[in-house]
Amino acid sequence: MRKPKVLVASRLPGETQKLLAETCELSVNEGEAYTIEQLYANARDKDAIVSVLVNKIDKQFFDNCPAIKVVANVAVGYDNIDMDEAQKRGVLVCNTPGVLTDSTADLAFALMLSAARKTPSAEQYLRDGQWHRFALDLLLGVDVHHKTLGIIGMGRIGQAFAARARGFSMEILYSQRSRVAEEIEEGLQATFVSLEELLERSDFVSVHCPLNDATRHLIDREKLSQMKKSAIIINTARGAVIDEPALAEALANGVIAGAGLDVFENEPRVNSQLLDLKNVVLLPHIGSATIETRTAMGRLAVEAVGSAFQGKMPANTVNKDCWERFLALREDSIGR
Ligand code: GLV
Repeated sequence: MRKPKVLVASRLPGETQKLLAETCELSVNEGEAYTIEQLYANARDKDAIVSVLVNKIDKQFFDNCPAIKVVANVAVGYDNIDMDEAQKRGVLVCNTPGVLTDSTADLAFALMLSAARKTPSAEQYLRDGQWHRFALDLLLGVDVHHKTLGIIGMGRIGQAFAARARGFSMEILYSQRSRVAEEIEEGLQATFVSLEELLERSDFVSVHCPLNDATRHLIDREKLSQMKKSAIIINTARGAVIDEPALAEALANGVIAGAGLDVFENEPRVNSQLLDLKNVVLLPHIGSATIETRTAMGRLAVEAVGSAFQGKMPANTVNKDCWERFLALREDSIGR
C-alpha cells in the first residue's frame, strides 16, 4: 500500500496536521484561502482533502479532482459539500461534531448579551472619547434574564445554548421538525412549540439549525414580521437560514429591535445595509474559534482521514453507507 496523498486546504492550529505526516503524504496550504482554481490545482492528485467551509466541494470539484476518496470537513456543518455527488462517487465525508458544541453556544450567548446590552456601541462610545459623565439613561439596553428565549434547532448546540439560558432563568421554547426526547425537554425545561408560536412569544430568538433545502431563508420577511418589535435575533448557524436583505430591512424599519450575527449569506461579504446599522452586532464567523476547540476540530478531521485509510470507519462519518464503496476505491488506488 502506498501512502495516501492528503491536502490540508487551510492550515490547522498548532501541530495538528503533523499527526498525519507519518501515515500520509501531506500538503498543507500555509497561505490564504484557496481560490477555486488553486483548490483544484492542489487537490487534483490527492486521495483526501481536509477542507473548511469556504471550500466548495461540489460536482465541479469532484470532476476536477477525481482521485479524492475522503473529504474531512473541519466544521460540524457540511452545507459546502454536495452530499449527493459524494454519495454517487463513493466518497466518504466526515465532519467535526461534538467538540465545538460548548464554544459555539458560549459565543451565541455572548452575542445575545452584547446585542441586548449594546456592549460594542458602548465600548466605541468610550474609545471615541464621548464619555464625559455618568448618566442614568446612558446606553440603556434590555434585560436578558427572565425573558423568553426561542431556539430554532434543538440539536447539540441548541441544547447547550438552552442549558446556559437556564442559568439566566429564561423561559425556553424550541422549534424543529420533531421533538427531542422527554428527558432532554425536562432537563432543560424547554417547551416544544410551532415556529409561528416561537416567533410570536420570544424576546430572543437564536438560530441553531443546519442549512439545507428546508431551512434556507426559513426566516424571511414574513417570519420577521411575526416577531415582537422588541425581539432580538441571534444567528451562529449559517447565514442563509435568514434572508439577509429582509433582516436588514426589518432592523432598519423597527420591525424587530436587534440582531447578533456571526454568520452571513455570502461570507466574507456582509450586506452593506447591515454594516450601517447600530442595532446589530456583527462578528466574522468565530463561533468555534477558541484555541482548544479549533485544535480539537483539526485533530478530529485529521484522525478521520488517518483512520479511514487504515480501514477503520471514523465515528464522525456523515455518509456511513458509503463505507464499503470507499474501501473498494481505496483498494483500487492505493492498495490495502
Ligand atoms: C462552523 O461554522 C461549523 O459548522 O463548524
